[in-house]
Amino acid sequence: MRLFRLSAAAAAIAISATALSSLPAGAQNDSPIEQRQKLMKENGKSAKAAVQMIKGEAEYSPEKAKEVFTSMHEVAMKFGDYFPQDSKTGHKTEAAPAIWDKPEEFKAALAKFQEDTAAAMDSAPADRQAFQQVFGKVAQNCKSCHEDFRVEKD
Ligand code: HEC
Repeated sequence: MRLFRLSAAAAAIAISATALSSLPAGAQNDSPIEQRQKLMKENGKSAKAAVQMIKGEAEYSPEKAKEVFTSMHEVAMKFGDYFPQDSKTGHKTEAAPAIWDKPEEFKAALAKFQEDTAAAMDSAPADRQAFQQVFGKVAQNCKSCHEDFRVEKD
């Protein structure tokens, strides 16, 4: 139940922050939403850097590959901390209700993303082709988690 213990801690911090900034009573708890969106934006940046290398728009280097996977892994380790019960709506969140309705499945998706990014970090692909394969496996996580746990609005 790590996810929920951490969520409670995040909620406690967010509540004290809300008290300090004297938001109107009953305001949505936006802080964790902003935090998780910021983490996902990092994922977006990393994925963009990866695609640029794969397409040959940027030069491939094993160091840059490792940066991409390390950043994604850090996101994977933190992301689950920002889903308290009072962050289901507001702040243009795209978090799907399934996150709270099927917490075990969400946790499993997160755990897989953690494992796959860790394996990718250690794999140190030597060239662009090898990188593309490893990245493809990691990117499956983006796709499947978004299908199940994100409602895209734009
Ligand atoms: C375990 C589930 C999960 C995985 C894995 C995941 N995402 Fe997300 N992603 C989400 C959820 C949930 C949101 C919506 C967050 C919100 O708005 O509260 C999101 C939102 C986003 C956003 C929009 C952020 C914003 O608010 O502007 C981007 C970009 C994104 N993800 C990229 C990625 C990429 C790239 C990967 C893979 C490297 C990835 N995600 C993997 C669950 C996941």
